[in-house]
Amino acid sequence: MKIGSIEVENPLFLGPMAGVTDWAFREICASVGAGVTVTEMVSSRALVYQDKKSVGLLRKNSSSLCGAQIFGNDPAIMAQAAVLALEHSGCDFIDINMGCPMPKIANSGDGCGLMRTPELAGQIVDAVVKVVNVPVTVKCRLGWDKGSINVLDFTKRMEDNGAAMVAVHGRTRSMLYSGVADWDTIRQVKAQLSIPVIANGDIVGGESALRCLKWTGADGLMIGRATLGDPWVFAEVKAAMEGKEYAGRPALAERVDTAVRQFAMAYEDKGEKIACLEARKHFAWYLRGVAHSSYYKDQISHTTTMEDIYRIAEGIKKDLK
Ligand SMILES: Cc1cc2nc3c(=O)[nH]c(=O)nc-3n(C[C@H](O)[C@H](O)[C@H](O)COP(=O)(O)O)c2cc1C
Repeated sequence: MKIGSIEVENPLFLGPMAGVTDWAFREICASVGAGVTVTEMVSSRALVYQDKKSVGLLRKNSSSLCGAQIFGNDPAIMAQAAVLALEHSGCDFIDINMGCPMPKIANSGDGCGLMRTPELAGQIVDAVVKVVNVPVTVKCRLGWDKGSINVLDFTKRMEDNGAAMVAVHGRTRSMLYSGVADWDTIRQVKAQLSIPVIANGDIVGGESALRCLKWTGADGLMIGRATLGDPWVFAEVKAAMEGKEYAGRPALAERVDTAVRQFAMAYEDKGEKIACLEARKHFAWYLRGVAHSSYYKDQISHTTTMEDIYRIAEGIKKDLK
C-alpha cells in the first residue's frame, strides 16, 4: 500500500498512545516488526505557542515510517501546527486525531468531537493538505455514539478533502476502549474509499490480525494496547501475515534486556527523572504474567534512577524465569 506517494512495505502500524508511545517505545516496536509508527498526539495550540514539551513528543523514528499526530479544531491553527510539526520532526506524514474520546478533548470539539462537525473536520484536512508537502492522514472512530455512527460519510468527506489514508478504530466515542470493535463497519469503509484504510481495534496477535484483515479487506492493521510490555506482538503478527511459523516470545532475560534498552533510550531522550518515572509502568507491563514477579514489581514502582533499573533488571534475570 501507499500513503500518498510513500511506499509502505510493512503496513503494520503502532497505534499512537499518549503517555505510552514515546520515541523510545516506538523505536523498540519498529525494531521487532512495526512498519509505521505515529507520535503521541500533540496539541496544535501548544505547538503554535512553542511549548517545549509538545515539541519533544515529536521526535521521529528512523527505523520505521513515522507520522506526527496533531489535534485541534481550528483549521488555521492546525495548518500552522502541521507546518511546525514537520519543521521540528521531519516526519513522513501528518496524522490528524479525530478519535480521542477524553472529555477534555472531545467535548471541546477536538479529537472525536470533530466527528460531530464533519464539515469543520473536512476544512481542517483541506487546510493542512494545502500547506504541507507530505501526505495527511486521519485517525477516527465509528462516530460519537451508537445513535450517531457516521464513519462512512465522514471518511468519504476526509478523502474528498485530500486525506491520503484513514485509520478507523472500530468503536464509538462513548464506548471508550471497551466492548467489541466493529470490524464489519470498517469493511464498509474500506469498500467505499479509494485511499487506503487501516483497521484498528482488538488486534491482539497473529490469529486476530489475519481474521481482521480477511474480514475488513483493510490495507493495513494498527495495534494499540496489545503492545504494552509486549512489542513482540508485531513479530507474531508479521510472521502470520507472511505465512511463516512464529517461534514465540523471547526468554525473560531477553525481554528484560529489551525493556532496559527502551529505558536507556528514554533516558537519552528526556532525562533520567522523567524516563525513570515513566519506566515504572512500562517495566510492570513487561513483567505481566511472569510468575513470582511481585517483589520486583514493587521495587519497580519506586524506581528513580537508571542505577535502580539496572539493579532490578539483574535481579529479575538472576531470580526469575
Ligand atoms: C493509553 C492510551 C492512549 C491513547 N492515545 C492516543 C493518541 O494519542 N492518539 C490516538 O489517535 N489514539 C490514541 N489511543 C487510541 C489507540 O491508538 C487505539 O486506537 C485504541 O487503543 C484501539 O486499539 P487497540 O484495541 O489495539 O488498543 C490511545 C489509547 C490508549 C489505550
